[in-house]
Formats: sequence, C-alpha cells, structure tokens
Amino acid sequence: MDIVYDLLVVAHLLGMALLVSGVVLRLTAPNSPSAMVLMTGAGTQVITGVALTGIASAGLVDTDVDNTKIAVKLVVAVAVLVLAHILWRKPQAGKGLLYTIAALTLVNVGIAVFW
Ligand code: HEM
Repeated sequence: MDIVYDLLVVAHLLGMALLVSGVVLRLTAPNSPSAMVLMTGAGTQVITGVALTGIASAGLVDTDVDNTKIAVKLVVAVAVLVLAHILWRKPQAGKGLLYTIAALTLVNVGIAVFW
C-alpha cells in the first residue's frame, strides 16, 4: 500500500501545482480557462487528501493522522473549491476572489508543513 500512498502524495502535490498555476494563469492571461484549472486543482486536493487520510487512518501505512489538522485543511480546501467554482460562474468577479484563493492555498501549504 506504500506505493499507492506515495502516488497519491505525488497527485496531491500536482494538485497544489495546478492551484498555483491557475492563479498565475488568471493574472497573466485573464481569458484563459484558469477557473477550470483552479477547480481541477482544488478538486484534486480534496479527493487525494481524503484518500491519503483514509489510507493512513486505516493503518495501512506507517503515518500518524492528526484529525484536527486534517479537518482544518478540508474546510480550507472546500472553501477554495467553492470560490474557484464562483470564479468559473462569474468570470468578471473582482481580483479579491482570486487573491483569497491564492491566500487560502498558501494557508493549507503552511498547515501541511508547519502544523
Ligand atoms: C488547497 C488544498 C491543499 C493544499 C495546498 C495541500 C498541500 C499539501 C502539501 C504541500 C503537503 C506535503 C507536506 C509534506 O510532505 O510535508 C500535503 C500533505 C498532506 N495533505 Fe494536503 N493540501 C491540501 C488539502 C488537503 C486536504 C483537503 C486533505 C485531507 C482531507 C489533505 C491531507 C493531506 C495529508 C494526509 C498529507 C500528508 C501526506 C504525507 O504523508 O506526506 N490535504 N498537503
């Protein structure tokens, strides 16, 4: 199961890369499908994050799970997903929405590394 877990970690990091790419794309090429990139990234984070947590909680890998940390990450990631969806539906939305998505993504990176 270690290899499955490791592959999910790779997918999790690629999902984070999609979120960062989506923000940069939106700033540099406003007419590009950046909202779709952001939604894909946020969705990837939620799905791979939940799968990683499930595998670890089931004791299939030798990794401890901090449920409080995971709960906070999940709430932040779902917020990013909802905001990306709003951006997709309302392409003319102000920059504040995009900066909030960027900030929340950084918050989750910080939680992942420092908590
Ligand atoms: C915007 C959303 C998210 C971002 C940017 C993000 C970012 C990261 C990063 C950078 C790591 C690697 C940390 C390290 O190896 O030290 C990580 C690991 C992890 N994340 Fe997330 N994450 C997000 C959402 C989630 C969600 C929603 C969950 C669970 C529901 C989750 C669960 C995990 C777990 C279990 C690990 C540990 C993987 C390991 O064993 O190294 N993440 N996350």
